[in-house]
Amino acid sequence: MPPNRKPYKGKEERLVVSVDIGTTFTAASWCILVPGQIPKFESIVRWPDQFEGSAKVPSVVYYDESRKPRAFGARNIAEPTTEAEHRWLKLEWWKLVLRPAHLLPEFVFPELPQGITVDKIFADFLSYIKECLQKYMQDAVAGDKWGKLSLSLTLILTTPRCWLSEQQERMRVAAINSGLVESPQQVRFVSEAEAAVLYAADTGRIREWLKASGLFGLLCLSGTIDISSYQVISAVPLQLEELTPAHCYVAGSVLINESARKYIEERLLINQLGADDADDPSEINSQFEAKKCHFKDPNKVMMLQVAGHITTNLDITRGRLEIPGTKIAEFFDISLDAIIKGMKSVISESRAQVNKVILVGGLASNIYVFSRIQKWAKDAGVIVIKPDGGNMKVVAEGALAWHLDSSVASRIAKYHYGTKTAIRFDSTNPDMEGRKVYFNPTGDCVVNGGWAGIGMKIRSKKEFGGWHHRECTDDEEVDKFEFPIYAFTGTSPPLFIKKKGQRQLNPHFIHICTIKCNLQECYDQAKYRKSPTGRKYKIIEVSPMIHFPTSYFS
Ligand SMILES: Nc1ncnc2c1ncn2[C@@H]1O[C@H](COP(=O)(O)OP(=O)(O)OP(=O)(O)O)[C@@H](O)[C@H]1O
Ligand SMILES: [Mg+2]
Repeated sequence: MPPNRKPYKGKEERLVVSVDIGTTFTAASWCILVPGQIPKFESIVRWPDQFEGSAKVPSVVYYDESRKPRAFGARNIAEPTTEAEHRWLKLEWWKLVLRPAHLLPEFVFPELPQGITVDKIFADFLSYIKECLQKYMQDAVAGDKWGKLSLSLTLILTTPRCWLSEQQERMRVAAINSGLVESPQQVRFVSEAEAAVLYAADTGRIREWLKASGLFGLLCLSGTIDISSYQVISAVPLQLEELTPAHCYVAGSVLINESARKYIEERLLINQLGADDADDPSEINSQFEAKKCHFKDPNKVMMLQVAGHITTNLDITRGRLEIPGTKIAEFFDISLDAIIKGMKSVISESRAQVNKVILVGGLASNIYVFSRIQKWAKDAGVIVIKPDGGNMKVVAEGALAWHLDSSVASRIAKYHYGTKTAIRFDSTNPDMEGRKVYFNPTGDCVVNGGWAGIGMKIRSKKEFGGWHHRECTDDEEVDKFEFPIYAFTGTSPPLFIKKKGQRQLNPHFIHICTIKCNLQECYDQAKYRKSPTGRKYKIIEVSPMIHFPTSYFS
C-alpha cells in the first residue's frame, strides 16, 4: 500500500468490488472499508475449475440451444459428456463486440449467434462473477460480510481507454441485470490503463518516475492495446495528469491467435488433412495458445500435434505440424507494428517529452514481445519497464486504488468535440470548391458545415464549452435552435464535417447528440444590427456546454 492511503473515514463498513472484464480473462477484487482502518485489497485467487493461485478466469460463456448460459470460465467441456453438451455454444472474445464502431479490429470478427446479444453475455457473465465472489468471500471472510454488505456495494468496472459513454451505459445496465448491483449509481468506471498505473504506483516500483513534473507513457498489451501518457503533478499525494490523447488498437493477443488459427487451417488443407484425420481444431488452437506464451526465438520451430501419426510430404511429421519460428514472429509482428506506431504517436504528440514507458498486460510478459519493444525503445532513446511482474490482478486492484484515491486529476478528452458552423468562403482553399456558398445576414460570403471545436484538455467533472455567435434574422425559428454535437476520433479534424455534396460524415466523425434550445427570449432582447446591404439582423451569443461525468474520462 502506498504511504498516502489514509484510514477509512466513513462511519459504517462498506464493500467495494472491482471487476476487470478482459477480452480473454477476467479478474475480480474487493475491499471492505472498515471505519478507522487502512483499506486492504483482496482478489479472487482461486476460480472454479482452476488451480489455486490463478487470479483470472477465462471470459468464456457456454450457451445451450435455448440461449441459456450453461457453463462459464475454465469449465472444460472440450470433451462434452452428454448429448446436450455437444450442442452448447462456446462464446469468447465477446467483449470486443461492444467496442465503439470506429475501433476496427485488424481481423474479421465472428458474429454472435442469433438470440444472443453482447449485452446479455455481459449480464450473464457478471452474474457468474457475482456467484463466484459470494462463494469466495463466504468461504474466506468471517462474519458473512457478503450477506451484510453486498446489497449496497460499489462496483468498479474497467474498460479500454477509448470506450465511450455508450459502452459504459450498456455495461452499467448489464451490471444491474446481473443482480450484482441494484441501481445505476452503484457503478463507476475507470480505464484499464489508469488502474494499471495506480497499481504500479502501489508496488513502489515506479517511485523513481513519480516525481513532480515527471512524464511517462503506459502500454497496456492484452487482448487490445491501449497507449496513454501521464505527467506527475504531485508525488504526495499522487496526482497525475493525462498528457496526450489515448491510442487504442484491437490488435493485441487475439489478433495473434487469429492469424495463427488461419495459418493452421490453411496448412491442414494444403496437407490434405480432412476433418476425420485432423484433431479437434479448438484443441489445436489451445496448444498454440499455450506454446505462444513461451515464444521467444524466431529461429526455433513450433510443433503442434494435429493428427494421429500421419506424415505428409509437406510440414506434418508423425502427426505434428511444424510452424517455422519466423512465421510465429510474423503473427506477433502485426501486434508489434500497432504498438510501435502508437508509441511513436504518443512520443510525437508529447513533443518527445515521453521517454519512459511502463508495460502491463498479458502480452507484455512475452519474452519476444518485450525484447522487440526494448530494441525499438533503445533506438528511440526510451526506457521501458514491466513493473507488474506478470501479476494478473493489476487492473482489478488498481481500480480499487482509483476509487479510493482518485489520483488522476485531469484527463484529456478522448476525442475532439465540436459543433457545426458557417465558415467564411475562401476561393483559394480547394476544400471549399464545389460547396454551396451563400451570404449570411451580415453580408459575408460563407459555406455551411464547417467544424467548430470545443476544446481538448478538460478537468473531469467540469463542463466545457466555447462561445459561438450566430447572426439571425426575424424569419429564423430561434425557438427551435439546434446544435449538433460531433466527436472527431482522428488526430486533427478537417475543415468540414461532411463530405462535399453528400450527407455522409467525413471519416472519424461521430454524431453524438443534438442540443435543442429555445433562444426566443435572447433574440427578443438583442439589438437589431444592419448589414452593409441594409438587411436587419441580430447576433445571439451561445455557448453549448458539454458536461462529462468523471467516468467518461476514465
Ligand atoms: N507470455 C505470453 N506471451 C504471449 N501472450 C500472452 C502471454 N501471457 C499472456 N498472453 C496473452 O495475453 C492475454 C491475456 O492478457 P490479459 O489478461 O492482460 O488480457 P485481457 O484482460 O483478457 O484483455 P483486455 O484487457 O485487452 O480486454 C491472453 O490472450 C494471453 O494469450
Ligand atoms: Mg485486461
